Amino acid sequence: MAILYDSESRIFRLHTRHTSYQICVDELGYLLHLYYGRRTEQDMRYRLTFLDRGFSGNPKEKRLDRNYSLDVLPQEYPFRGTGDYRSAAFCMENADGALSCDLRFCSYEICDGKYRLSRLPSAFEERTRETGSSEKAADTNGKPGDVQTLKITLRDAVSGTETDLYYAVFESADVITRTAVIRNGGGSAVTIKRALSLCLDFPDGNWDLLHFHGRHTMEMQPERTPVGYEMTAIGSRRGTSSHQHNPGVILAARTASETYGDVYGCLLAFSGGFVCEAERDQFSQTRLVMGMSDDQLSWELKPGEALELPECVLAFTHQGFRQLSLLLHDFIREHVLRDPYLKKPHPVLINSWEAAYFDFDKDTILGIAKEAARLGMDMVVMDDGWFGGRKDDLRGLGDWYVNEEKLGGSLSGLIDKVTKLGLKFGIWIEPEMVNEDSFLYREHPDWVLKVPGKDPVFARNQLVLDFSREDVREGIFRMLCRVLDQGPVSYVKWDLNRSIADVYSLKNAAGRVRYEYVAGVYEFAARLLERYPGLLIEGCSGGGGRFDLGMLYYTPQIWGSDNSDALDRVFIQNGYSYLYPVCCVGAHVSAVPNHQTGRITPLKTRGITAMAGTFGYELDPGKLSEEEKEEILRQIRAYRQYESLIREGDYYRLSDPAADGIAAWAFVSKDKTKMLINYVQLENHGNMEVKYIRAAGLSEELIYISDTDGKRYEGAALMYGGLPVLPPGKDYAAGQILFTAEGAQDR
Ligand code: GLA
Repeated sequence: MAILYDSESRIFRLHTRHTSYQICVDELGYLLHLYYGRRTEQDMRYRLTFLDRGFSGNPKEKRLDRNYSLDVLPQEYPFRGTGDYRSAAFCMENADGALSCDLRFCSYEICDGKYRLSRLPSAFEERTRETGSSEKAADTNGKPGDVQTLKITLRDAVSGTETDLYYAVFESADVITRTAVIRNGGGSAVTIKRALSLCLDFPDGNWDLLHFHGRHTMEMQPERTPVGYEMTAIGSRRGTSSHQHNPGVILAARTASETYGDVYGCLLAFSGGFVCEAERDQFSQTRLVMGMSDDQLSWELKPGEALELPECVLAFTHQGFRQLSLLLHDFIREHVLRDPYLKKPHPVLINSWEAAYFDFDKDTILGIAKEAARLGMDMVVMDDGWFGGRKDDLRGLGDWYVNEEKLGGSLSGLIDKVTKLGLKFGIWIEPEMVNEDSFLYREHPDWVLKVPGKDPVFARNQLVLDFSREDVREGIFRMLCRVLDQGPVSYVKWDLNRSIADVYSLKNAAGRVRYEYVAGVYEFAARLLERYPGLLIEGCSGGGGRFDLGMLYYTPQIWGSDNSDALDRVFIQNGYSYLYPVCCVGAHVSAVPNHQTGRITPLKTRGITAMAGTFGYELDPGKLSEEEKEEILRQIRAYRQYESLIREGDYYRLSDPAADGIAAWAFVSKDKTKMLINYVQLENHGNMEVKYIRAAGLSEELIYISDTDGKRYEGAALMYGGLPVLPPGKDYAAGQILFTAEGAQDR
């Protein structure tokens, strides 16, 4: 059993294969957090200490026993109103305006299987081939009965507000997910001011927060910050998860490294604003909280209403970042992504954006498609510019009908021709947005988020449609269906090219709009997948502006960055690799000089870098030399050979690109018989040092044969002795070496 409750001690024990999580209901009915870490069966209440701490208040029952204070005790779901002055997970305003509540244990339930949320995405129990209906799992990878759910209900006696805390224990995956549902069981409305999904309290230790900051075209830059006595907070107020901070963080012991030490991964499955706060309190205890940002909602919860909070995925290991990444990658692949090409070859696509930008017609797309077919690619994607009056980024968004005049023919005709070339067809959309210069806006100016009497904030000259409204979503959905019904469309790139502002809706209360907007986006995505089974949606928000588990649940890949420069991509993709598997990071080979940085990198390097992602192209193949075409043919053959290793194997970071002058990573098959080492030389100097790459994840005793020189290496030698990489002699050289275990060559 993964979840146990002992009614005498009132302890909940949650066990995964290697971890334990313990909670107890104390004598006053408060929920105390006892432990999360390496597996133990011990009753962990002995860790609680009770001391008289000045200025730390006591509940009435303990007013004469000053040793009890929620200001210092570790808690499971701390809330404002108990004299705990650290970061709270929950804050509520009563009908009388008082910011206060007192949540005490009421009941619990334990059941088999995974809880689900009705309006927000959450991890599923079993991997499935069925896009859109993970619940009815077809392809079961996890053992049945491997997941259990615990629900603990807390109640505030004064307002009647109840909080159901949910925990799902994925035993063999070593992951616990958490969320909560707030219900108003009282007679008057209350206002939810803060409702986070996660609190983790640690009574001791020195901790760092590893988080991932960035900007448009330079996402996912790791920063390791010591958690001190000040508040360390990251988050997004942009209404989306944002380029600036990713809603995935790692709390790491100060001594933790790639291969050693306690590390906790916390990923929020939410695509709106979020917050993550870490603080060390007056007694050097550390608290981490995470969830929707406070400005995401001010929710008037009426009697009988409920509010679902986003899910948070938690993983722990004592073996450092490498092992944590392996756990998270497996979990996301098995329990979050719904990939229509699961275990099948994925289409190698070519996208028109950097090839033609807005300047194309059907012949341009067909020209790209013809070359792509000759080069062995599988899909052509027509990016922005095919609809309405969209000839640049100033106009046309919202007019989701094909501009046949610009295209020089119908969409169905184009799809037909592309299909006859043996290629699939994909198309770009940005459903949540509108330009003032569009028929849609002229007809429905009231469909945008806009504060009455104030000019809205523009970005990329566009406004945000009120996706919190069902009628707006319905209108856009219908328009898009008319496009997608014109022929077999296999792929949609769903973009979002600005942050959200002017949050005011004509149909939803202001404090609900941001949440309803995100829930509306999820509903829209679910409808698309339901109506077009097998459709692959690639998420995008100017690259990685909405790269989170919430979107990944619907769009199993997300364009990693609008920066396609191979060198910058090495760093960006290295950042993603801490939390997300490479199969969900959109990556393409583009032309040089690179359009974002002006840098010239070898085509081979661009190919190897894009293979640490979904792999595709974004250039005009008509402009390639014969030599370059040869290289692309070779790349696609290589990708076909390595695809399952890359997508389903274990990913290892083998260097720190920021420190080592070389970026190296490996994919190792689950049975350890194959390893693909990849590297990019980041430095090139006269008379340069030799770099060594130490492999990982191999079997020590097996003998591995290199496909480049046919040499035989013991697994132990590759891992502990390393492989020398000679000075490159040119800028940004890269290499890829496949090692196959002796005897496994023919498998
Ligand atoms: C965003 C995307 C790009 C491209 C453009 C089109 O910036 O990230 O890949 O689709 O929009 O306008």
